[in-house]
Parts: sequence; structure tokens; C-alpha cells
Amino acid sequence: MTNELYRPQFHFSPQQNWMNDPNGLVYFHGEYHLFYQYHPHGTTWGPMHWGHAISKDLVHWEHAPIALEPDEHGQIFSGSAVVDWHDTTGFFNGEAGLVAIFTHHDQEPDSDRPRERQSLAYSSDFGRTWTTYSGNPVLTDSRFPDFRDPKVFWHTETNQWVMILASGQTVSIYHSANLKDWSFASQFGDGEGAHFGVWECPDLFKLPLDGDSARTKWVMLISIGNSPEYREGSRTQYFIGDFDGAVFKNDASPEKVRWLDGGRDNYAGVSWSDIPAKDGRRIYIGWMSNWKYAQVTPTESWRSAMTIPRSLGLISRKDQIIVVQQPVHELNQLKSGIYKWDETIIDPGQNLLSVLDLPYFELEAEFELQTAVEFGFKVRASDISETVVGYEVEKQEIFVDRSYSGEVSFHSDFSGRHAVKVETLDRRLKLHILVDTSSIEVFAGEGEAVITDLIFPGEKDQGLEIYALQGSVKLISLNISPLKSIWT
Ligand code: FRU
Repeated sequence: MTNELYRPQFHFSPQQNWMNDPNGLVYFHGEYHLFYQYHPHGTTWGPMHWGHAISKDLVHWEHAPIALEPDEHGQIFSGSAVVDWHDTTGFFNGEAGLVAIFTHHDQEPDSDRPRERQSLAYSSDFGRTWTTYSGNPVLTDSRFPDFRDPKVFWHTETNQWVMILASGQTVSIYHSANLKDWSFASQFGDGEGAHFGVWECPDLFKLPLDGDSARTKWVMLISIGNSPEYREGSRTQYFIGDFDGAVFKNDASPEKVRWLDGGRDNYAGVSWSDIPAKDGRRIYIGWMSNWKYAQVTPTESWRSAMTIPRSLGLISRKDQIIVVQQPVHELNQLKSGIYKWDETIIDPGQNLLSVLDLPYFELEAEFELQTAVEFGFKVRASDISETVVGYEVEKQEIFVDRSYSGEVSFHSDFSGRHAVKVETLDRRLKLHILVDTSSIEVFAGEGEAVITDLIFPGEKDQGLEIYALQGSVKLISLNISPLKSIWT
């Protein structure tokens, strides 16, 4: 498994066959559970199951047997999982246990019209085996053919379960005392944000502002499906506002659109439930692909990987509040050695990194602007290919250019350059970059600008370059660490 071309070495991927969205993210008894949309009989999308993997550190994953498979109510689409600490469901004889809340997808009887209904499954053995609830489905609404991807959480302030799920191009919010009986609370989204495609995989959670737990805001994530008119394909937007347990109020004006990621390959991401309060993080993971071309990416025995798990935060900048993302610190354990530079002027035409050859690694750099109009790195480079990560000073944009990143011919919308704005602070810019065998993730500044992109370089394209164009840039510091594979 570890030697296959393009097999991610520090990102989660299924042993074989097709994967899409992360599902049922929950932490319980020292274990992080990652379920995922899984087609066990092929490398393209097919009848959906929940695949399963377990980790003690968010970095190393143990593959577990399939958790949920299609039954008399249909396929198992996306959803979430929670710890039912006080046995509100009555499934656990007064103990705590895991409950999965997911969408059953089938067809209306005697028609082709899709039908999507919400159902439960529960586990009394720490997620090892699952029983579907005999009262399924627990929530239906035949007005919406697209009615799916329930994300459930305990709302402490009002002492009840809250479900947010996608309903056409809106989200609907429901309440429950026991996860079985649900009552409608509100709907959000009409005329708000982007409506380029169907709304999917929502999430809703509270985050401290600038690390101050006395000042909090609610963040709503909404993934938007691929539509043929938009080259960007499927992507995720977010809203910041307030939530009183029933109604979400968007702080921004309705037409404002904010994207979580400036790259193409971060979709359907949601956050872990039940991270202990003493940890306090909101940990997120996304599906590292795009419905535009996900089914034709050039891998063989498996298809798709997840992003690196990321810790989310909120920072204020001028009059804006921005969601920031950083790789979880647990990734540090994979570092094997370090190459370091500091206080170095980078001029055009020289390459400080010509001695390095690395297939997968982590890079952290801080630059100070001088006269260069553009600067950055080329990774997975050779005479014939390169992936460029750069900063264009005048436009104040970081970008990833994967036009010559290796195999790009499998889809006409794959090749290209993706940019996102990020301002320097005191003329300084930090870049935190993760390169794996078939992906690149760039976190700029405090993580307020992120680009996640797949790349498919040749096995031998392992060169690295640091560059400056039409002038110099000052490297304040640069640390590059080869990483250990998580599979060995
Ligand atoms: C998002 C999605 C979800 C759905 C699942 C089906 O990628 O379309 O809305 O539940 O994938 O696999």
C-alpha cells in the first residue's frame, strides 16, 4: 500500500476503492473516529457505505471494518456522530455511547425522485459495531429532494440536541431531547451567500474570537456542490454570526461570500464532536478532492484522501472576522530532522535549496518584503515539472500554480493557478506548507488564507527551489522537515 504512485504518506486515504466526505467525526475514550463516504466495490462513486478509521493522535490511522451499509431504507449518505453522555436515547442502559445521525438515500416509491431521510445507528462498544435504530427514519420532509447531511451537537445553553442539515439551497435547524423526535426550529440561507450549486454538509459551532473565550462567535460551514458553469467545482463557504439555539443570524450582509479555502480540493469538511473541554480545539477535516474531477484522478487501487486535520480559530483583522486554519500540532511527531536557514537575502537566479530532494515534507517560512515583485517556492520540481507556491506583492495574493505539476491531462479543469488574498503584517509574511505525494496545502499568515490542491507529480520529481523575481526578498527564517510516513 505504501509504495503505490501518488499514495499519500501522511494524509488519510482508504486502503482501496472510493472515498468521499468525512462522516461521523467524534472523539470518545481517547480515540478519534473518522467515518467516511465509501464505495467498497469500486474506485468511483457507488452505493454508499460508511468506511471507518480510528486514531489516537489524528495522524496515525487504523483502518476499521465498514461501519454502516445500505439497508431497506437505502444508501448511507453523510452525517455526524455524537457521544450520548446521559443516554438521552435510552440505547445504552444509562451509560454513555455513540450515536450516528445520517441520511438514508433512496427513491420515492414508484418514482425516480430521490428521497432523503434522517436515521440513527448506535454503538455500545466504542464504535466497533453499529446497530441501526428500529424506528428509522427519524426525520423526513418530502418537500425537499435534497435533504441531507445532518450535523448534530449538544447546545449547552438551551440544553438540547441541535441538528443542522442541508435542505435544497438552504439549511434547516431542528431540536430534540432524545435524538429520535425532532422539531423544526428555523431555516437559513435564502438569499444569503453563494448559491452556485446544491448546499451540502453544513456544520455550526462556536469559536473564541482572538483566542478570548469570553468573546465568541458562531461559524456556519456550507459546502456547495459542483455545477457545470463554474470552473471552481465544489467548494465550501462560511458565515459568521450568532446562534441562540434556534436561529442563526449572519453578521455580514447577505450578498457577502466567504470561501474557506482558496484551492480546489477541500470539500465537505466538518468538525469533530466531543473534543474534551480541556483540549478546547475545534478540529476540522475535509475531503481533499473536487466533484469536478474526483472520479477521474489518476490513482489506481483507491481514490481520494482527506486534508490534514486542522485546528480552526477566529481572528479579527481591521473590521473583519476571519476563520483561520492551522494543521494540528500532532503532526510535529512526524518530523524527521530539519533543514534550517535564517536571515538570508534571496536574489533572482539563485536557488538555496538545490541540495534538497524531498517527496513529502513540511516547510515553514517567514519572509520580509524587499524589492521582489514575486517570491516563493517550487516543490516537486524537475526539468519537466513543478508546483509553484508564490506571493505576488502588488496583488497581495498567495497562489498555487499546478499547471506543470505533473499529470494534469485527466480533466480539462484540473490544470491552473489558484490565488487568494493575504495581507502582510509589518511587511512580513508567514507560509506553512505541507507537501505530500499527491497534494499541497498552504497556510499563509495566521492561517487566514489557505490553498489546498491535489497534484500528481512524477515519482522522481522531488526538487525544491526558493525564488525571487525582479528584485530580492529577505528570508527571516526557513525550516524544512522531511516527514515520516504514517503507514510504516
Ligand atoms: C457531498 C455529498 C453529500 C452526500 C454525499 C453522498 O459530497 O454529495 O451531500 O451526503 O456526498 O456520497
